[in-house]
Amino acid sequence: MCSNEKHRLVNLVLPRGIHISENGIPSAYNNYYEKRASEMRGFYQDENALEEIISKENVVVYRVYEFKNSENSNDLVYGVSIVAPLKIGKEYNMTKGHFHETVDTSEIYFCLNGDGYMVMETETGVTECIRMIKGTLVYVAPYFAHRTVNTGNQEFINLFCYPAHAGHDYRTIEKNGFRKIIYEEKGEPIIKDTKRTGL
Ligand code: F6R
Ligand code: ZN
Repeated sequence: MCSNEKHRLVNLVLPRGIHISENGIPSAYNNYYEKRASEMRGFYQDENALEEIISKENVVVYRVYEFKNSENSNDLVYGVSIVAPLKIGKEYNMTKGHFHETVDTSEIYFCLNGDGYMVMETETGVTECIRMIKGTLVYVAPYFAHRTVNTGNQEFINLFCYPAHAGHDYRTIEKNGFRKIIYEEKGEPIIKDTKRTGL
């Protein structure tokens, strides 16, 4: 079969161009979700500080806009995540973080606004924290769990793109947490070890 005939046999997904405005919201997307403070119980170090935020106003801590056409390994999912500028006690606001279910799949993040970190680690304890400002591209290598942390005072906005068959494993991080967290000390973000170090 000639390669340009192959598309006749599958559901053809059309190419698409979208515009991402200054506030990070894409002009089109087919999946949106947000996490409120109450959905982040167990993720931050200071549980009392989180409960205080929830009781005052159960704010949205991050939002995700994405385009997902399929779960095919030859397809890509792409979108934008927006992490609110917020501290929970002394810890900076962040996404839940995950491994990819297909753990050898990678991902690209590109910072569109703000100041923060990509925190990454493998199951065996290789850790990497990369600072991200507008224009920074981070390649999340295969096998690395990843989360974004907003250490600035604006929305931390990142474009992401990953293979559509990657899938998400949230359980491991939910259970064990990351080995590194980003804390505020004397007004500056510092990277700290959590209780979970080593294997
Ligand atoms: C997808 C990916 C991002 C995150 C988003 C929200 O593989 O890494 O799209 O899903 O930044 O973070 P989580 O998924 O950790 O809630
Ligand atoms: Zn991911």
